[in-house]
Amino acid sequence: MKLICRYAHEDAPVPEGWKFKKLGGHHGANGYGVLTMADNREKDDFYPTPPYATQALMNHCPWFEGGFMHDYDYDYWEPACGDGAISEVLKDAGWRVYSTDLIDRGYGDATGVDFLMETKMLAPWLVTNPPYKLANEFVKHAQWLVDSDPEAHGHAMLLRLAFLEGQKRYTEIFSQFPPSHVYVFSKRLTMIRGDHEAAWYGSGKMAFAWFVWERTDKYHPEGQTTEMHWIND
Ligand SMILES: C[S@@+](CC[C@H](N)C(=O)[O-])C[C@H]1O[C@@H](n2cnc3c(N)ncnc32)[C@H](O)[C@@H]1O
Repeated sequence: MKLICRYAHEDAPVPEGWKFKKLGGHHGANGYGVLTMADNREKDDFYPTPPYATQALMNHCPWFEGGFMHDYDYDYWEPACGDGAISEVLKDAGWRVYSTDLIDRGYGDATGVDFLMETKMLAPWLVTNPPYKLANEFVKHAQWLVDSDPEAHGHAMLLRLAFLEGQKRYTEIFSQFPPSHVYVFSKRLTMIRGDHEAAWYGSGKMAFAWFVWERTDKYHPEGQTTEMHWIND
């Protein structure tokens, strides 16, 4: 079992679920030790997206220049909305966003909605930071939804940069439908678990990128290739 560990003084409060153990030598003699807890990944992978990550997508990706016509009631669908970290940034920019999640986190137009069971697009564009464990399934399902609806335009997923590698992923995703654009954050993003005090997790800095799949027949009739971009804001 993986343990998370942080250096602490014996006078510091010990959060629920953590254990304090004094170190040997002069550290222990001065009252210092380590706090440890089992790394039980947050259930259903709730890691809210920092607002600047969504803002960066809007600054760089041409979809957000507007002007596209469609018959849906919403412009964007956030199908794993969590507490609305992405949706709220899009709404602040004036977009109509429909937000759903499997879990009720006190936000959204509907909860108890398993995205992987959905059968139609609810907006022309879909934007999310999917649960880590289901990232492949989310990408494949979003692609299927977009392909099944001639009115749909595409989907954008915030994914770890390491999503680019892996033979299974290459076979199932990249060789079948490569993304149109990959926007790589030159600075790592800080992802904090949604259910705990940020202070106890410090900075979970990770390499991320926005992966954007645009509808091939609408945007790339000459054939799909992947353009790389760097976000260095
Ligand atoms: C990494 S968090 C991101 C939350 C939000 N998209 C954001 O960017 O802040 C992933 C979210 O996916 C939700 N989730 C997990 N499995 C799901 C499923 N099958 N269908 C819909 N949402 C799901 C979790 O409840 C969690 O809120």
